[in-house]
Amino acid sequence: MPIEFRDLTWYLHGPNSTYVLFVDPSGYLQHGHWGSRLAAGDLAHWRPIRHRAFSPSPAGHPDTYSLDTVQAEFPAGGGDFRLPAIELVQADGTRALDLRYLSHRTTPGKPPLAGLPATYVEATTEADTLELVLIDQPSGLEVTLSYTVFRAHDALARSVRIHNTGTTSVQLLRVLSASVDLPEDSATHWLQLHGAWARERTPALCPIHPGMQSVESRRGASGHGHHPFISLLRGDTTETAGPAWGLSLVYSGNFLAGIERSPYGLTRVQLGINPAGFAWQLEPGASFQTPEAVLVFSERGLGALSRTYHTLYRTRLCRGQHRDRERPILINNWEATYFNFTEERLLALARCARDVGVELFVLDDGWFGHRDNDKSSLGDWTPHPAKFPDGMRRFGEKLAELGLQFGLWLEPEMVSPDSDLYRAHPDWCIHVPGRAPALGRHQLILDLSRPEVVEHVFSTLCAVLKSAPVRYVKWDMNRNMTDVASFGRAPANQGETAHRYILGLYQLLERVTQAFPHILFESCSGGGGRFDPGMLFYMPQTWTSDNSDAIARLAIQEGTSLIYPLSAMAAHISAVPNHQNHRTTPLATRALVAATGAFGLELDLTELPAEDLTALRRLIDRYKTWRPLLQHGELHRLQSAAAARGVSAWCVVAPDQSEALVIAVRTLAESNGPWRIIRPQGLDPAATYLDLLTQQTHPGDQLMVAGLFFPDGPDFHAQAWHLRRLASASATIT
Ligand code: GLA
Repeated sequence: MPIEFRDLTWYLHGPNSTYVLFVDPSGYLQHGHWGSRLAAGDLAHWRPIRHRAFSPSPAGHPDTYSLDTVQAEFPAGGGDFRLPAIELVQADGTRALDLRYLSHRTTPGKPPLAGLPATYVEATTEADTLELVLIDQPSGLEVTLSYTVFRAHDALARSVRIHNTGTTSVQLLRVLSASVDLPEDSATHWLQLHGAWARERTPALCPIHPGMQSVESRRGASGHGHHPFISLLRGDTTETAGPAWGLSLVYSGNFLAGIERSPYGLTRVQLGINPAGFAWQLEPGASFQTPEAVLVFSERGLGALSRTYHTLYRTRLCRGQHRDRERPILINNWEATYFNFTEERLLALARCARDVGVELFVLDDGWFGHRDNDKSSLGDWTPHPAKFPDGMRRFGEKLAELGLQFGLWLEPEMVSPDSDLYRAHPDWCIHVPGRAPALGRHQLILDLSRPEVVEHVFSTLCAVLKSAPVRYVKWDMNRNMTDVASFGRAPANQGETAHRYILGLYQLLERVTQAFPHILFESCSGGGGRFDPGMLFYMPQTWTSDNSDAIARLAIQEGTSLIYPLSAMAAHISAVPNHQNHRTTPLATRALVAATGAFGLELDLTELPAEDLTALRRLIDRYKTWRPLLQHGELHRLQSAAAARGVSAWCVVAPDQSEALVIAVRTLAESNGPWRIIRPQGLDPAATYLDLLTQQTHPGDQLMVAGLFFPDGPDFHAQAWHLRRLASASATIT
């Protein structure tokens, strides 16, 4: 039973983890434990009660009791001077809030979150959900904390719903999705993912210092700069050992991920919508639903934490026909042609692509309106007359005649000032009336917080997607939000705009993906500027970064893999010298790095010499034999180039351990350096594996202990080992 309940204490059990919360005698909800699995015990009484000077006590309590010193489950002030999880302005203008336990219920399964992406179950037996209702008696405000615990994963999905049962409106200023107070001797470090365009999601491990530390986005999108994720670790936690706590937000807009170390050593970790710029009027009778935070605990290091996220997100966050299907190998014409193409040039590229084994052709930016550069036409989604004189349907048919599926780039949330759409509806963009809005990439954002704008974009998309045999869409978003206001919205409600935009976006995505279930959608935002769990709910893959250099991608894909499965990370072979950093790497290395993602190509094949095309054909044929393993296997990060003196290595193991692919890539060669040994993980120790590439056999235990020898080689040299299990001892015995 994943949820045990006794004496107003709840034990939420995953396979190897337990989360405990309880109601104390005053009715306050407290946190008991989040960590290794426990048999139910009397945890609530572990923390001794003692007086702390300057920590006040709620009315009627002894001075040994203070909300400032407890492990709170959903802190709301009231003498707790640490960061609250909720803050609001009551009708009387004060911020008073006293949340106490009212009721609870437990239900099998997991209900959907209205209007928001979330993890889900396919059978009610997969999870149980606890809903705990807290109430602020004077105002009648009810706060429902929701916890879903999954039977098969060490993951907990948390979210919060605020319901105004009173007779006057309140203004919500801060409603986070999760807040957890960990004890003094747990985490010593926190791990965040930071970066910028073309170098997204670089892990940074920081010691937790007293006071506050946080990352956030105020961009209207999750962004390239920081990530809606935080992990807590002990100083000695590694990839394979030690405790790791993860919090990941299923949301695509402004977020806050923060930590506060209290004067007494408790660590408060929080995640949710960024309170900066947020203010929500909650009318009598209305509810507000936060996004979901997914909490994962691993007692076996970061690798196991990642694999829990991978499996949960791949199978119970991603949805639709393409979730479990083999993803098509695509070619994208962006880095091959940029805006400079004709239909003939594209078809020549398509022919070459078909010949090397590509399955789908993606027509990127520049196919619509009069768009020959990035200064016009977003919003006018009709084919560029000079580039497609016969229209989109005919182009799609020509691709089909070559045996290729057709994919299309769109940037539906945007409008160019130089467009018919903007000229017809200048007030449909996010802007402050009476002030000239900032431009990003010469464009403005359509105001999806307005239902009529969502309606227009939906009907435009339907027309485009029905106008040709489209099987894939790259949904791009190339600027962040400034001038945050919505035309016509009452002044008191303007603080709702950024979140209402995301709600409008989610509604649009839901409608479009339901209307075109056969289309594979890939999310993009200048590469990985909106690579987050919220988008994965609608689109099972994301363009990981505009940086397509294989060596730069080692770090970007490694950071991304902390949370996201390989099947979600689009990765392409591109030209050399690379267009972002001018590096030249071998084709085989580019192919191996791209293979550990949703695999594709992004270069002008018509310019490649015949021997490169032949090599590429062989590499793609080989990838096709690896594709099911790479999409559904379990990732083990073996070595990071940053830490392991220039050699990056990882392996992907089939869930039944019958097959594994080990890949090592050298960044910079070393003269007279140490031997390089790659030790795979996750294999069956009792089995013998055949390396299909060298035809050598190796016992599984020896592979993991003695390892594989990675010979010296030049810069950027890479090698793969494809291991297939021959027989296991247990199989022989039975
Ligand atoms: C963004 C994407 C690129 C490409 C361009 C087109 O930058 O990340 O892959 O689609 O837009 O303008």
